Amino acid sequence: MGFTSSVDVVVLGAGAAGMMCAAHAGQRGRRVVLIDHAERRAEKIRISGGGRCNFTNLDVSPANFLSQNPHFCRSALARYTPQDFIALVGRHGIKYHEKTLGQLFCDDSSAQIIDMLEHECADGAVQWVQPAQVLSVEHRNGHYFVQTSRGDFESQSLVVATGGLSIPKIGATDLGYRIATQFGIPVVTPRPALVPLTLDSRTLDALAPLAGAAFAVEVSCGGGRFREQALVTHKGLSGPAILQISSYWQATCAAGKPEPVILNLLPGDDAEQWIAEHAQSSALPGNLLAERLPRRFARAWADMHGADRPLAQCNEAERAALADALSAWALSPSGTQGFAKAEVTLGGVDTRALSSKTMAATGQNGLYFIGEVVDVTGHLGGYNFQWAWSSGHAAGQFV
Ligand code: FDA
Repeated sequence: MGFTSSVDVVVLGAGAAGMMCAAHAGQRGRRVVLIDHAERRAEKIRISGGGRCNFTNLDVSPANFLSQNPHFCRSALARYTPQDFIALVGRHGIKYHEKTLGQLFCDDSSAQIIDMLEHECADGAVQWVQPAQVLSVEHRNGHYFVQTSRGDFESQSLVVATGGLSIPKIGATDLGYRIATQFGIPVVTPRPALVPLTLDSRTLDALAPLAGAAFAVEVSCGGGRFREQALVTHKGLSGPAILQISSYWQATCAAGKPEPVILNLLPGDDAEQWIAEHAQSSALPGNLLAERLPRRFARAWADMHGADRPLAQCNEAERAALADALSAWALSPSGTQGFAKAEVTLGGVDTRALSSKTMAATGQNGLYFIGEVVDVTGHLGGYNFQWAWSSGHAAGQFV
């Protein structure tokens, strides 16, 4: 093309974080170009929350995020809170509701959140360059030069908002990690998170015929603990409880010490006491458990644990073993269903190389990383979007 457009800020990735940052920077009077390779804008917002976008959570704290640097997210989250985003949604007249556990969803459609962010970008006179392939990024004489299939751009600030690796079929790539590496910034190895877990063939043989069975459970692993629904699938386990704990299981794997996932099948109850209450029962344990769990699942679980005699015929040690198994059923996942099924990416650009105030790389002037490309991973429930809004806002004040 030859001609290079000169602007103040180039943002790579027009997703949740990129649009937020571009809008804030533009409204500060910065000349902003927003570049994305996808045909459609913000596909992840569009498909999120079953098409209704769980855009934040009423109760957000650093405890809802995983990172090798757990305090990093605190500052940005405090400076742009769920209430700030809710106020923005309110100003745009978007109706929403709390579904469960503080999770806020649009009443109508996630497209409203995209429209809102597009309007905010328009208010900041943000220039869109989409779809455009990013061909190269260079830093010369204190300026960034971004070469794309739709022209070349020169800027003082470069914001990397290209997201994580989940769902490659709608445009996820490793561009952000490659740019970090190019500038000598470390990347915590990305892993699929909020993802269904797979099981070894023996456990799967016992469970797979029950695919579709859902039950309430308390899961724990690697310091995480969640009480929600689990779901048996043809490949292993899924459901909100399992998605939540998958991130913690992945963190134990990343640390080289994979821990089993522990399932308490009688959440909120004392399993020992429950067994003691039924100690004289002549019913098979699988039938007794069917009072609390889906019948087919209860029977298969009892078979897996050799619980084939009525409790009245078991000795104390056998009853104690059953109580233990019920309150702490330990499963060692064989893996996950991978980035194709993962909602987010654990790991990413190492926050120890970034300023928690501005999201700028501390060793590279004018280079910023925001959103999911950063090693900050939220729980299920609107936390990942809140991180995108908060980190996008933080950088938007400084770029
Ligand atoms: P995001 O992925 O939104 O945007 C990155 C952008 O960069 C994309 O537009 C992409 O095309 C672009 N890009 C990538 N590579 C590029 C390249 N090489 N060149 C140019 N552009 C490039 N979270 C939540 O809080 N509530 C929810 O309800 C859901 N629901 C949900 C459902 C599903 C199915 C998924 C997969 C994920 C969710 N999430 C979620 C997670 C949430 O979508 C995610 O954390 C945010 O979108 C991250 O925002 P970012 O802006 O960082 O990345």
